Amino acid sequence: MNESRRPILAGNWKMHHTHLDAIQVVQKLSYQLPVEVYDEVDVVVCPTFTALRSVQTTLDADRIPILLGAQDVHWEEEGAFTGEVSPVMLQKLNVSYVIVGHSERRELFGETDEAVNKKVKAVLAHAMTPIMCVGETLDEREAGGTEAKVSRQVREGLAGLKAEDVAGLVIAYEPIWAIGTGKTATSADANETIGQIRTVVRDEFGKATGDAVRIQYGGSVKPGNIAELMGEEEIDGALVGGASLNPDDFARIVRYRA
Ligand code: 13P
Repeated sequence: MNESRRPILAGNWKMHHTHLDAIQVVQKLSYQLPVEVYDEVDVVVCPTFTALRSVQTTLDADRIPILLGAQDVHWEEEGAFTGEVSPVMLQKLNVSYVIVGHSERRELFGETDEAVNKKVKAVLAHAMTPIMCVGETLDEREAGGTEAKVSRQVREGLAGLKAEDVAGLVIAYEPIWAIGTGKTATSADANETIGQIRTVVRDEFGKATGDAVRIQYGGSVKPGNIAELMGEEEIDGALVGGASLNPDDFARIVRYRA
């Protein structure tokens, strides 16, 4: 990481934890995080939609400075879109961050770069921060196509945005072959690709924007590898799946400096 950017450690719970489990997990997580942690890093949990309200009231009632994130959003404010959740609804729940374009949404649910772009704009228009995910498949990596793939996803996902908005958002580089597989990209490889992403942002939106935008790594992040990843200049945080489900493990990740 670079001292000029504030680290952000986010847990993506995916389709895990009922709202009752979610309350317990966030409470246990808070017990293990000393208050000083929040001065140094942004700590975010992204429960399922059904648990957002419960986690929000738990955080409020106990005055826990963990930030609330959602895992997806629709770009319209309301309408006949059965099964979808609007940015207005998330904003009203004090959601701060919204994951957009996770590879599971792209690969399993056909989400396109165009849809990702609309969602990023909708999140920003409602005063929340997108965590826009990009990443390559194993085939793409082995064919030498990593930089081309993530560059396209970054350019198309951020198309038409103002530089000041891009400077404040978060990009998560998640190589698809590293998600849930126990295979982490080496910290040097993750640093290299994240550096390439930052170059794309500089080219499209100017140097200051590229210097400011925070870029996380995601893919089999664990308590045992977070410190090395965070030791890399370009890596500003992590988007954690499996290891964030367990409050002990996620607390160790958040306290990677300890
Ligand atoms: P894992 O940490 O389980 O590999 O998941 C990463 C991820 O997809 C986070 O969004």
